[in-house]
Amino acid sequence: MKRVAILISGGGSNMQALAESMSGDHPARPVLVMANSETAGGLEKARAMGIPTAAVDHRPYKGDRAAFEAALQDKLEAAAPDILCLAGFMRVLTEGFVSRWQGRMLNIHPSLLPKYRGLDTHARALAAGDSEHGCTVHEVTPALDDGPILGQARVPVTPGDTPEDLAARVLEQEHRLYPAVLARFAAGDRRPVMFP
Ligand code: GAR
Repeated sequence: MKRVAILISGGGSNMQALAESMSGDHPARPVLVMANSETAGGLEKARAMGIPTAAVDHRPYKGDRAAFEAALQDKLEAAAPDILCLAGFMRVLTEGFVSRWQGRMLNIHPSLLPKYRGLDTHARALAAGDSEHGCTVHEVTPALDDGPILGQARVPVTPGDTPEDLAARVLEQEHRLYPAVLARFAAGDRRPVMFP
């Protein structure tokens, strides 16, 4: 059985979808949900599911990313995960941290990478006049929102969509895609999952 730690910053809806998927004959189980703030809404959801939680507030480490990551690393080592899932974790990680976890760390990003790395992906897809948009799960490598693609889900862009409409449509697909990719990845299969 593979041990999975999930890193979050916010409401944790992807974390919840991942955690709920890891039951029965799934090859992995959640062992830790960690946030960069005590107030991340996802922590309460994780506790309600009986998953151990931790928080390392990034603010006292301002200007010292390596020290913040050392604190994350301590908590991770205590939980001994085989796989690390970033699920709406909004801190940029240094090359040192990423190298340590490379090949074992996944991220979900709300765009069809390589399009729209970084923030405001939904507004950027709308501004570009794209007819489709979506989300990507990829292995994390030192370059931001880069790394081998493990899955993508596409959604149509509808006339009159606001960034919020599009975000909601994509998020629904994130909740299908990330669990599907994790199940495959945890079984040692890195072939991409493509929806639809
Ligand atoms: C998700 O849409 C995820 O793709 C995005 O943050 C949201 C988190 O929602 N991640 C990024 O933008 C990473 N750069 P959640 O907390 O409800 O899962």
